Amino acid sequence: MGSHDPALPFGGAPPDADGEGEQLWIDVIRRMDVVYSDLVASQVALEEQNQRLQQARDFMQSVLSAMNDVLIVCDAAGAVLRVNAALTTALGREEADLLAAPLLDLFDPADHADIRACLANGQPIEDKSWHLLAADGQRAAVSVNGAPRRDARGRYAGMVLAGRPIGELLRAYRDLDKAHQRLRQTQQQLLTSEKMAALGRLVAGVAHELNNPISFVFGNMYALKRYGAAITGYLAAIDAGKPPAELAALRDSLRIDKVLADIGPLVDGTLEGAERVRDIVQDLRRFSSNQREEPEAFNLVRLIHTAIDWVIKAQRTKPELRLELPPQVEVVGRKGQLHQILVNLMQNAVDAVEGRDGALIRITAGQQDGWVVLTVSDNGPGVPPENQNKIFEPFFTTKPIGSGTGLGLYVSYNMAEKVGGSLSYADAEGGGATFTLKVPVDDRGL
Ligand SMILES: Nc1ncnc2c1ncn2[C@@H]1O[C@H](COP(=O)(O)OP(=O)(O)OP(=O)(O)O)[C@@H](O)[C@H]1O
Ligand SMILES: [Mg+2]
Repeated sequence: MGSHDPALPFGGAPPDADGEGEQLWIDVIRRMDVVYSDLVASQVALEEQNQRLQQARDFMQSVLSAMNDVLIVCDAAGAVLRVNAALTTALGREEADLLAAPLLDLFDPADHADIRACLANGQPIEDKSWHLLAADGQRAAVSVNGAPRRDARGRYAGMVLAGRPIGELLRAYRDLDKAHQRLRQTQQQLLTSEKMAALGRLVAGVAHELNNPISFVFGNMYALKRYGAAITGYLAAIDAGKPPAELAALRDSLRIDKVLADIGPLVDGTLEGAERVRDIVQDLRRFSSNQREEPEAFNLVRLIHTAIDWVIKAQRTKPELRLELPPQVEVVGRKGQLHQILVNLMQNAVDAVEGRDGALIRITAGQQDGWVVLTVSDNGPGVPPENQNKIFEPFFTTKPIGSGTGLGLYVSYNMAEKVGGSLSYADAEGGGATFTLKVPVDDRGL
């Protein structure tokens, strides 16, 4: 083999021309061939792997940038290793600027102690409310969850934190809270206006109630004035030293003995009248008060009578009243509210029977297993079935415009529910309506 072999990697003749040397060369060349093609294959594989790696990185990057939640990967010492676009946007800082920065730099100093503790103990982090600190000094609330990261040997290597911006949520919550407050205010105003409307209707009844004791007090005071004049006249005669016969005649004509006997009862009666006036005014103040009431002990039967005096007795044509009441039903409750419920139920009953022949209102009350059960029935038209589930709704009324707000039953129902009781409707026997109120005998602690 003297000719040049073009397959030889090196030009020129082999070092040895004998057969053994040639074989050696051929082996070397083959091996080099194999190595070379291995190299090419590895190169191709490497390029493929590189491509796959790039694809994986691109994929990761696209996932990270698509996330709305902010993502921070840090090492166990708290140095930032990786962040996503949501974080750079939230902070207004470049990614390069954030990498290797301490994690604490990204958060409000108020959260630092908590963050440090979480990093140190390497446990999963759940729903922490922390605040990102943006480049312009603004704070952004985020709800942070995190999981510990482990290295190849399973050792704690840092944290992966995901934070959900809750600024929007907080704003929505605050708006909701404001709306709720407004609603409560409106409801309070509604309650007050219903109370005022009821009070307006009651004024006639209350005026009538007050008139009685006041005219009583007036009458007594006029009598006392006359008595005073008689006594003064008689004393003047004594002071003037009139003879006994004349004094006796004067005493007789001035009816001094009767005057003296009358004064005591007259003063007592006057006091009673004044006390009655005071009680009515007190009831009225309680009724119109907007203060939150504390439960107090009282006799429900007396409260029923006050409500009757105010509502039913004040009617021009009075319906017949049938009271089935024990002398006393002692309860501990909110007296003003119960009074308002009673007035509402009685007013409705009075309205229902107005102008009817044989108008009758029946009121019962009693105690049963820790509850007070009270019913107000009438023999009016009752509530037609299609309205029975509407009467407790606010503003439902079948009364002409201006005469009913439609809040009476709504307010009463809510007051009863608030103390754990109930207010319900049933058709009365023989036609008409029966409203049943159930409240605890003692509603303290509710
Ligand atoms: N005793 C009753 N008999 C028949 N219908 C009644 C009776 N009580 C209430 N209703 C019906 O229920 C409706 C609602 O009563 P509610 O007391 O809530 O309002 P209102 O009496 O119409 O107005 P107000 O707010 O002035 O009380 C009444 O309009 C009436 O149609
Ligand atoms: Mg009513």
